[in-house]
Amino acid sequence: MPTPNSQTIQFLRRGEVVTLNNVPPTRTLLEVLREDLSLTGTKEGCGEGDCGACTVVLGEANGDGEGEQLTFKAVNSCIRMAHSVHGLALWTVEDLSTADADSQHPAQEAMAQCHASQCGFCTPGFVMSLFAMYQNHVLQGQPITRELAQTELSGNLCRCTGYRPILDAAQQMASLPEVRLDQPTITRQLAGIQPQAPSANNPYQLPGTLAELLAARAAHPNAQLVAGCTDVGLWVTKLHKQFDAVIDVTRVAELRCIEQRGGDWVIGAAATLQDAFAAVLTSWPELTTFAARFAGLPVRNSGTLGGNVANGSPIGDSMPLLIALKSRLVLASLRGEREMPLEDFYTGYRQNLMAADEVVAFIKVPLPASSSQTTLLRAYKISKRYDDDISAVCLVLNLTLDGDVVSDISIGAGGVAATPVRARQTEAALRGQPWSQASVESAMHTLRAEFEPISDMRASSSYRREVLGNLLQRFWLESQGEQHINLEAFKLKVLA
Ligand SMILES: Cc1cc2nc3c(=O)[nH]c(=O)nc-3n(C[C@H](O)[C@H](O)[C@H](O)COP(=O)(O)OP(=O)(O)OC[C@H]3O[C@@H](n4cnc5c(N)ncnc54)[C@H](O)[C@@H]3O)c2cc1C
Ligand code: FES
Ligand code: FES
Repeated sequence: MPTPNSQTIQFLRRGEVVTLNNVPPTRTLLEVLREDLSLTGTKEGCGEGDCGACTVVLGEANGDGEGEQLTFKAVNSCIRMAHSVHGLALWTVEDLSTADADSQHPAQEAMAQCHASQCGFCTPGFVMSLFAMYQNHVLQGQPITRELAQTELSGNLCRCTGYRPILDAAQQMASLPEVRLDQPTITRQLAGIQPQAPSANNPYQLPGTLAELLAARAAHPNAQLVAGCTDVGLWVTKLHKQFDAVIDVTRVAELRCIEQRGGDWVIGAAATLQDAFAAVLTSWPELTTFAARFAGLPVRNSGTLGGNVANGSPIGDSMPLLIALKSRLVLASLRGEREMPLEDFYTGYRQNLMAADEVVAFIKVPLPASSSQTTLLRAYKISKRYDDDISAVCLVLNLTLDGDVVSDISIGAGGVAATPVRARQTEAALRGQPWSQASVESAMHTLRAEFEPISDMRASSSYRREVLGNLLQRFWLESQGEQHINLEAFKLKVLA
């Protein structure tokens, strides 16, 4: 593909269309905001999606019809490519109050009233997450509970431990005079921004259909495919990689769909992690905590399920879950589609079966069978920090009992091999056996011996083996009704 040309980025900010020319494909949104537009209210803390200092809010029209609403998402601008906001509305911390200094947005006013603003690095990010919470919950009449506030602020770190007043501020917003955006006008203005036409000259391609994506992929097999950039963004900011050509899958309508079809959840690869988990949780509400512990909300708002699967990190979280649920992967190219069990996709460390002209198109997750048999699904994530951290070990167990006999079990594991894996030997050791302490203790040995985990900064090999067996034991205890061994049993207590 040719070098950057006059391809423009257009987005809406403060009621006006911002037009930028000649932006390199791997220039981040944060760089554009701070360095090109002098919007220095948005801060850079970590530059890797961890701290939330760079949080901005994106608005997107969610349909074509009359009266359509905007969706609001807090995202990390530090690892998001600037081109990805073409056609969206953008709010930075500078955009919340009007020119009149007396009229602060409730997100700002609540922070001030609750003495929640401490250092200038984290505060803008917290305010933007509060703004998204205000749009998505307060204005929808939903109460902000302590739990909700904690989940929504999970991507914002405060090193001076000022969380309590910040959570107070989240709850305070609803009591302040209401501020509403003029959504019909914003939607109309967004409709006026033309989608980027597919062009071989564009260094950053934003195809809108699967056919356009597959054509671009076939024509430019060396272009860097990106989705939410929550992995690729770090290659740019931390490894200083630059790509001459990028193909972004996030506008492909077919790949954003999530629907139930043919006995499966069919999840488009470009569905965000947040949307994909929301769908999966309707079938398996017991996964709520596991889903909330996948990164923080801004990462789940940008990152996609397809990106997690395609990246294939051995410590990625969705793959053990999808493997335990017996999910299948659909790869697509101009040559057609092919489908395979997810565990068969991986061939080695960060290696897989995807050809240079293919993309991950869909993930098919079989819906829970309606049967008289007892089923139990648990997903365990072991990480050094409870929130917003990467797994040292992830184990997901999906058990079906016929009476007290194991009629089926599927086990997905992460952090124990070069790829996400299925624990087939342990499954075989348990299948057809009574679901008893003796069978489980025997299977714990099998599971500890089944893989050869490495030692790294997250955990030693021996720790990982030990934990694998312990998690199976925990699963057994939970199946017997034990609750106190589970962190979910501990609820936040609000002190008067
Ligand atoms: C702060 C932080 C916390 C994180 N926490 C977690 C965590 O708790 N658990 C976890 O598992 N991960 C975590 N991640 C990693 C990351 O968020 C996930 O892997 C995410 O799902 C990647 O999706 P993406 O859309 O951002 O992919 P991108 O970064 O855009 O792409 C990742 C890879 O997938 C490829 N790709 C993307 N879409 C397709 C497609 N449709 N077809 C073919 N190839 C494609 C890209 O070419 C690239 O190689 C974290 C990341 C950050 C920054
Ligand atoms: S600067 Fe830390 S998340 Fe972006
Ligand atoms: S507000 Fe910045 S460290 Fe706490």
